Amino acid sequence: MRLVLLGPPGAGKGTQAAAVKDRLGIAHISTGDMLRGAIAAGTPLGRKAKQIVDGGNLVPDDVITEMVRERLGAPDVKRGFLLDGYPRNLEQAKSLDSILDGMGQKLDLVVSLKLSDAEIVSRLSGRRTCDGCGLPFHITSAPPKYSGICDYCGNTLSQRADDREEVILRRLAVYAAQTAPLGAFYRDKGILAEIDATGGILQVQERIIAALAGGR
Ligand code: AP5
Repeated sequence: MRLVLLGPPGAGKGTQAAAVKDRLGIAHISTGDMLRGAIAAGTPLGRKAKQIVDGGNLVPDDVITEMVRERLGAPDVKRGFLLDGYPRNLEQAKSLDSILDGMGQKLDLVVSLKLSDAEIVSRLSGRRTCDGCGLPFHITSAPPKYSGICDYCGNTLSQRADDREEVILRRLAVYAAQTAPLGAFYRDKGILAEIDATGGILQVQERIIAALAGGR
């Protein structure tokens, strides 16, 4: 299956992607995780992206699209993929169509998570992210078994630089201006499933599974 997970910052894309990729046995491709990996490794891309990501702005389309094009050619993507954080504007959505066209493929479904700004700010300000595998936790709604330690890989958890309140507000503004219009783009193609992202993690997961099964 070839999927895109859309949604504002903090709507639960990373959290839900972890469950969906395991369930379907497909690759999880998170452009945010890829950029944070490049920043942590101090690569040329990471050095270029750090200030942009920490400020809540978008990395240039050509840089991101090249990264995604390369990733979509990897062997583990043959069984399908779940794109999380890409596309993020119309330019990137058109580039994705053209990459997939070139591979003789099409998207099956675009799952769009919906959440209020107030709930987003509360989720992001309590988020702690694993420095090793990138998995998100939350100090109250999804705490790790041992404080500050990832349940899955044992690395330390920390707060992302872009989870400061002023940067969260900037990311919400960028989302509204650039990413939200993608809903109409995919609705017109007949492949959009809009999902209420309020409630517990498992509740949201069940709604996504129902949409994947064709009940959107
Ligand atoms: P990216 O990493 O993609 O960030 P984002 O889209 O802002 O999304 P987040 O990772 O913040 O949130 P999420 O929806 O994954 O929520 P999560 O599951 O963690 O991108 C970061 C930056 O990289 C961008 O700002 C940009 O600079 C750059 N970038 C990336 N892609 C790009 C692109 N295509 N083009 C240009 N630039 C790009 O959940 C949030 C919290 O809530 C967690 O604590 C979690 O435990 C908790 N939670 C989740 N679900 C629930 C629930 N149901 N109930 C209660 N708590 C919950």
